[in-house]
Amino acid sequence: MHTKPYIIEFPKIGNSQLGYISVAEQGNLPFEVKRIYWTYYTPERVERGGHSHYELEQILVAMAGKIIITVETLDGLIKEFILENPNQGLFIPKNTWRTMKYTHNAVQMCIASSVYDEKDYIRDYKQFKAIQK
Ligand code: TYD
Repeated sequence: MHTKPYIIEFPKIGNSQLGYISVAEQGNLPFEVKRIYWTYYTPERVERGGHSHYELEQILVAMAGKIIITVETLDGLIKEFILENPNQGLFIPKNTWRTMKYTHNAVQMCIASSVYDEKDYIRDYKQFKAIQK
């Protein structure tokens, strides 16, 4: 099991003349996929996220546009990642606080290890800091 966020490079098939295909499939993902959803039309002034998860693991992909993601892991490490290539994803492990900002044209795909469950969220930053100790 991975405990650190990291960039996943998906295969990129094709060329600039014809365009590209990228693939996410069971062989190149760090968990079994239960759900895929996507977010879009997020105004640039809006910061999304602001939560961690007890169990959920996710991979975010900028299918279009640019996403700036700040993550804080259980060991207190804070890191910023920029997604702007559709052949890259960011793996976010469980117990990781995340915030995201988007360009107006960004379409974010989220590949998730579980179905949606509000009980799996920590939405209070103080509560997240408390589990770091
Ligand atoms: P949230 O996971 O906080 O989104 P983000 O991390 O992109 O900011 O979810 C935002 C709202 O949408 C929250 O009220 C929960 C709800 N929601 C669902 O109803 N179903 C879902 O599958 C997801 C992911 C969120």
